[in-house]
Amino acid sequence: GIASVAVAQDAKPNYDESKIPAYTLPNPLAGVESAVQWPARREQILAQFATEMFGKVPTDKLNAISVKDAGARKPVLGGKATMWQPVITLAGRDLHLLVLLPKESRNVPAFLAYNFHGNHTVLDDLDIPLTKNWVRSKPENRASDEDRGSAASRWAVEKIIDNGFALVTLYYGDVDPDVDDGFENGVHAAFPNKPASDQWGSIATWAWGLSRVLDFLGTTSEIDATRVAVMGHSRLGKTSLWAGANDPRFALAISNNSGCGGAAISRRRIGESVARINTVFPHWFCDNFVKYNDNESQLPFDQHMLVALMAPRPVYVASAVEDTWADPRGEFLAAKHATPVYELLGREGLPAAKMPPVDEPSQGSIGYHVRSGGHSVTDFDWTQYIKFAKQHLMENE
Ligand code: GCU
Repeated sequence: GIASVAVAQDAKPNYDESKIPAYTLPNPLAGVESAVQWPARREQILAQFATEMFGKVPTDKLNAISVKDAGARKPVLGGKATMWQPVITLAGRDLHLLVLLPKESRNVPAFLAYNFHGNHTVLDDLDIPLTKNWVRSKPENRASDEDRGSAASRWAVEKIIDNGFALVTLYYGDVDPDVDDGFENGVHAAFPNKPASDQWGSIATWAWGLSRVLDFLGTTSEIDATRVAVMGHSRLGKTSLWAGANDPRFALAISNNSGCGGAAISRRRIGESVARINTVFPHWFCDNFVKYNDNESQLPFDQHMLVALMAPRPVYVASAVEDTWADPRGEFLAAKHATPVYELLGREGLPAAKMPPVDEPSQGSIGYHVRSGGHSVTDFDWTQYIKFAKQHLMENE
């Protein structure tokens, strides 16, 4: 209720490991003795995350995408890449894709990731239109020319292309503006009813949008839709994990500094808490999730089980050592405690049994690193993701 919400907002977040309450993690393999029993257990866990945390997609009737603009192509990066900007329509919204392809691509693997402030921030190119949608931290919430290329350091475009991958990005606000608007805007406008308490918040909506983009990628000859790695940072890392859990067509998922509601164990209550995230971002999760404010022990799952929902597909969890708000250790523990599921399925899981030293990645079917620095996406992160994706998506080429 209102009272507990007020407490949560005022309470100082804990950053002290010694003050973490004693907790027991739910067992992802409860009742499972062999690999054949995993799919049924997986369905159960997936349904619990859907009804208690992210919310279910209300109907699949509005899943159809159409191509509004086939998109112009032109050479970029000195001719070694092609920039392609198709526009697809989903539930009445135009999704502007920015696709960067290695020259003369046929069936290449790709990274698919939302961007935070518009495609024009990923690459400084005047042919990339400014988004007309709501953008956060901007005067009047409008995109402007001065931000062209402003996020380029977070996108290792050249490295991605040089390693034979395509990059597909779009602005997450094309699907749903990241503001508590009572679910009136974005694709929600096409759905007649407000979400029920077990129906989608914005993270589930963004994840659904990624699956619809994957539908589109399956119609292209340039990109191999069976080799798409879904990647996201922070709130969009929570989104990429949920997208990968829901849609087994994603070959790989990457969570960069996703923290609370993403890869971090909720029961640790360190850094950002469930109560805090539900208070500050009431539109991200479904209303049922509020039941777990200051009540994490009642969750039927914890975030190691979100990671485990990817099994046996490869999944990467990355932290930054100064990003204590996202709880690096809790993110590591989720990767570690997802490992028994991978092992049951005959995969390695995470090789590191203990939290690895800073800047020393551990990569099996689960990858993990904690890099130096703070909350961001860096070249170091991309270097690991490319190495990991090459190993898992290109080794048999
Ligand atoms: C806030 C929020 C986090 C989120 C982050 C981001 O810090 O509390 O949960 O991950 O924003 O998306 O950058």
